[in-house]
Amino acid sequence: MLWNFSKSTSALKLLPLLCCFETYKAQSMQITEKEILQALSHVEEPDLKRDIVSLNMVRDIQITEDKISFTVVLTTPACPLKEIIRNACENAIRHFVNGHFVIEVNMTSQVTSKINTSSFLKGVKNIIGIASGKGGVGKSTIAANLAISLAQMGARVGLLDADIYGPSIPILLGLEEERPLAHSINGKDYIVPIQKFGLQVMSLGFLVPAGQAVVWRGPMASKAIMQMAGDTQWENVDYLIIDMPPGTGDIHISLCQQLPMTGAIVVTTPQTVALADARKAAAMFTMDSIKVPLIGIVENMSYFCPPEEPTKKYYIFGKDGAKQLAEEFNVPLLAQIPLVEEIRNGSDMGIPIALIADSPQAKAFENLAMLTAQRISILNA
Ligand SMILES: Nc1ncnc2c1ncn2[C@@H]1O[C@H](COP(=O)(O)OP(=O)(O)OP(=O)(O)O)[C@@H](O)[C@H]1O
Ligand SMILES: [Mg+2]
Repeated sequence: MLWNFSKSTSALKLLPLLCCFETYKAQSMQITEKEILQALSHVEEPDLKRDIVSLNMVRDIQITEDKISFTVVLTTPACPLKEIIRNACENAIRHFVNGHFVIEVNMTSQVTSKINTSSFLKGVKNIIGIASGKGGVGKSTIAANLAISLAQMGARVGLLDADIYGPSIPILLGLEEERPLAHSINGKDYIVPIQKFGLQVMSLGFLVPAGQAVVWRGPMASKAIMQMAGDTQWENVDYLIIDMPPGTGDIHISLCQQLPMTGAIVVTTPQTVALADARKAAAMFTMDSIKVPLIGIVENMSYFCPPEEPTKKYYIFGKDGAKQLAEEFNVPLLAQIPLVEEIRNGSDMGIPIALIADSPQAKAFENLAMLTAQRISILNA
């Protein structure tokens, strides 16, 4: 640093340094907010392909004698490009304004939304359906772990179990004994979602006694889900993850047509039979009468990792099927989650793997959460 000189430095030697310091101080006085904004207008948001100033992402600029600080408002707390944007901001200030200042870039986020939920599902910014054509491929596992990872990154997340005939979210989150409370607002009754692991959770499993089968015809089941979704008191939810039932039936059509869905994620396993059903689910979302954007494909049980050889990969169900499906629909393959005992175990125990901070599987779900949030920001832009 300029003024960090040794005690033996003579007064004469110090003079140029002090003069320099004075000029430097004077310069700082002259720096304006406009100059800072001009410099930051050279920083592009890599996903949205526009500069961060025109996107109104720069706030709270402060200039002191030796420090420039400002806040960048990201479109999601799960932004994978946080550090790239921070570095680009610092470089722009150094290059266009002054290279000697301490630069403090604070990061915050405001999740974007382009759906209108002002009356129905008030307080929900984005609705994401997790679907697959086939049963048992891991929709609920992916939905629960994705929701937890998003919440751990600082987003406000709701999880709605729409699998009315086989709700499994209460088991996955260890909530089998929970019964939600009702709450009246302006004469209308709302259900208060159960809070767990930082999520707001609602499932028909909370309302029907365990072990009792729901034997409703399609239209009645669809109506019940819509009512459950709308009557839940969601509190400022950035991402509402919906765990959909298997197939492409009445419930899917109702959810897609009656809810302003931001997008859908299709889960598949690598076998040909699962891929064939996943293709039908993906095709359903792209139908003219449905038109829900596909966020991407998740391949679950991609390969088997034996506990005694965790670095080994055995492609027991086949390889690259989901990659081809993603290419076919021109969407990203968001994740390839291995078949590992800890995932099944975590679900059975009600402690999803995404909560185990240092596990490679939690890292995989964190990555999935970042890519999902990134795709949503792009869809909303
Ligand atoms: N990657 C994985 N590794 C090991 N086990 C897994 C994995 N993914 C899911 N499972 C297990 O597979 C079973 C089915 O998963 P899950 O219930 O999530 O599937 P689903 O698609 O939601 O099923 P359904 O169609 O019945 O709703 C569960 O026991 C779950 O713990
Ligand atoms: Mg399920």
